[in-house]
Amino acid sequence: MKTPGGRNILSMNDLSRTEVGHLLNVADEMEDALRLGERLNILEGRIMAALFFQPSTRTRLSFETAMLRLGGQVMGFSDIAQSRSGACWGEALRDTASVLDGYADVIVIRHPRVGAVREFANFAHTPVVNAGDGIGAGAEHPTQALLDLYTIRKEFGTLDGLKVLIVGGLHQRAARSLMLGLGKFRDVTLYLACPDRYWLTPQEQEALQSAGVSIERVEAVEDAIHEVDVIYHNGMSEDSEEYVPENLKLTAAKLQAAQDHLIVMHPLPRAEEISYEVDDTHHARYIQQAWNGIPLRMALLRKVLATVTADLYVTRVRTAAAG
Ligand code: CP
Repeated sequence: MKTPGGRNILSMNDLSRTEVGHLLNVADEMEDALRLGERLNILEGRIMAALFFQPSTRTRLSFETAMLRLGGQVMGFSDIAQSRSGACWGEALRDTASVLDGYADVIVIRHPRVGAVREFANFAHTPVVNAGDGIGAGAEHPTQALLDLYTIRKEFGTLDGLKVLIVGGLHQRAARSLMLGLGKFRDVTLYLACPDRYWLTPQEQEALQSAGVSIERVEAVEDAIHEVDVIYHNGMSEDSEEYVPENLKLTAAKLQAAQDHLIVMHPLPRAEEISYEVDDTHHARYIQQAWNGIPLRMALLRKVLATVTADLYVTRVRTAAAG
């Protein structure tokens, strides 16, 4: 049964700038509560299904942590082979959706096929959250983009007027959703360092520019590192063995040219595109970024399962934090 006030989170395009700002504000409140050691029970009695038809470490476990921290419960699977959707039957997604609709209050899904999560949502009344679907045109990872925006806003206090260098394969969903997210804010300049084979389609580039984003294509990290506030390395591809050319690697030596306030982000997992010596610089944020997934996903679960009680509880937490 659909929860009153509940809704799907399938694409960054589904969220307005105001909604993103509100979610990040609630994530701030959730983070305050976590740091104060507050016990939050606003989703007590609610169940989250985590259906991961594709591997994950951070997304699944931070969603589960978020739900547990809110007093809810979790169930699901982390391997398509454990389900009837895999080789052992190949059940149609619409049948899985129709059945699981009655099992949980919110369903979080990762799937290797672009559009599969939306297809699932079309056959479910329960709120559905896209935890990453596919690669290439239409692929999205909206909750990653939200935690990325949260990480950037925590650092700079704003998402307007920033210069961001995105490095690696732009066919990958984390970068794609982040670009859509940044497109909601003013005066954003994206410097993009990406091989031809993974470059944006003309339509994608035009859509970003229509949203007000300035795009500058660069060949190497060195071409923009001195200009930017954020380096977001997205890795080359889903293949951890893919060769990373020197011009797209980030090293501590290259960071010598960076502004002091620059932060380095990566959705993880990484291969050899960010050397381990970068971890010891004051620029590295990727571990913090991964942790930020917890308060952000707490905020998101509260949003899709919103009730009056939840609103009151967060108000109480805010008052306690202010005092
Ligand atoms: N960033 C991210 O999506 O990581 P996982 O694949 O480990 O969930």
